[in-house]
Amino acid sequence: MHLIQQQMNTIHIYLFGLGNVGSTLIKQILDSQQFFKENQGIDLKIVGLANSKKVLTDKDGISKDWKEVFAEQSVTRNADHFYRFSSGDLTIRIAVDATASKELSQFYPELIEHGFHVVTANKIANTLSQSFYDDLRILLQEKELSFEYETNVGAGLPIVETVRNLHKSGEQLFAVNGVFSGSLGYMFNRFSQEEVPFSEIVLDALKNGFTEPDPREDLSGNDVARKLLVLARESGLKLEFNDIAIENLVMPELRPASLNQFIDQIEKLDHSLEEKKSQLQPDEVLRHLGQLDVLNKTLTVSLQAVKKESPAGQLQGSDGFFEIYSESYAAHPLVIKGAGAGKAVTARGLLSDIIKISKATKKVFQVI
Ligand SMILES: NC(=O)c1ccc[n+]([C@@H]2O[C@H](COP(=O)([O-])OP(=O)(O)OC[C@H]3O[C@@H](n4cnc5c(N)ncnc54)[C@H](OP(=O)(O)O)[C@@H]3O)[C@@H](O)[C@H]2O)c1
Repeated sequence: MHLIQQQMNTIHIYLFGLGNVGSTLIKQILDSQQFFKENQGIDLKIVGLANSKKVLTDKDGISKDWKEVFAEQSVTRNADHFYRFSSGDLTIRIAVDATASKELSQFYPELIEHGFHVVTANKIANTLSQSFYDDLRILLQEKELSFEYETNVGAGLPIVETVRNLHKSGEQLFAVNGVFSGSLGYMFNRFSQEEVPFSEIVLDALKNGFTEPDPREDLSGNDVARKLLVLARESGLKLEFNDIAIENLVMPELRPASLNQFIDQIEKLDHSLEEKKSQLQPDEVLRHLGQLDVLNKTLTVSLQAVKKESPAGQLQGSDGFFEIYSESYAAHPLVIKGAGAGKAVTARGLLSDIIKISKATKKVFQVI
């Protein structure tokens, strides 16, 4: 008789970013550690924590008092801190990026060289140059390591994987349209329904962790543009960020300001948006839309008036909404809709990517 024996798979997690998403991820992992051990044979240990200035390592894994321990025991961050700590250790290592840092994205090749799988909520690595994108994938293949980024589009909604699976199965994708930003969705849903200045809604969304760390990343259209580019590349297109047509809602004089200066002058956003709102027909609302036309290779980010009764017009709260058109879904698109922003759904999406890698690296032994 052959017995299948499963070994406990210990996964060492090195987390960059301890903000909204990062700290929620820590809570979700600590709360489900026992569940993963008992049900899936996976022992998740968070052995490294870093913010932009400080770093903490603990080979036994952090526990619920991590905030106090980080405040007391973290040290000044060096680029190679995690490599030195993990060197010689044969455990599976996953670097998790819950930052919006370009510097960290450019560091992924080095992490991969040192044997780290990468899971990221940060869209920047996938939207740097096409050559960076291609080289990263060649390196991953050489090192036999994984890179997961489902949360790059639609937070926890399964958009990236759906588009990837359609493309990989030989399906011709035609278009992906929708409300790509849960944050902008939230802002324009409220702006359409309430008599409140747009700037107040932005500040509220920032306070609730719905926006990017700098809300101009959303309002400029750059965040939606990055999501479109992630999906375009997932559909097999070779395009650069500069190829995207983007409507920027931030006026030129507010673009170079520091975040604090921008917040001080945020009411300047109000005038032009009030004007757009006043031009709407009674059966219309404003929606911030992303449109990826795969056949014509065009990517467009814009604020548009849509009918209230249309699917985009009926969205509530911070819902994301995606319509995927392809050979099989030509007349009736594949529709994915649901909470498209927020720290809980994003952290859960990261955790799901971590589990995906943990399962793929799990060893199963046959005992004779
Ligand atoms: N919130 C959402 O709904 C949502 C949805 C989908 C995707 N995301 C993505 O998730 C990521 C994080 O968002 P968030 O809302 O959690 O941001 P956040 O609250 O502003 O937190 C960002 C964290 O990143 C840290 N950080 C910045 N640069 C770093 C570096 N070079 N190395 C290590 N840590 C660094 C910051 O440290 P300091 O405190 O020291 O500056 C902070 O702890 C972003 O890429 C965002 O696009 C968020």
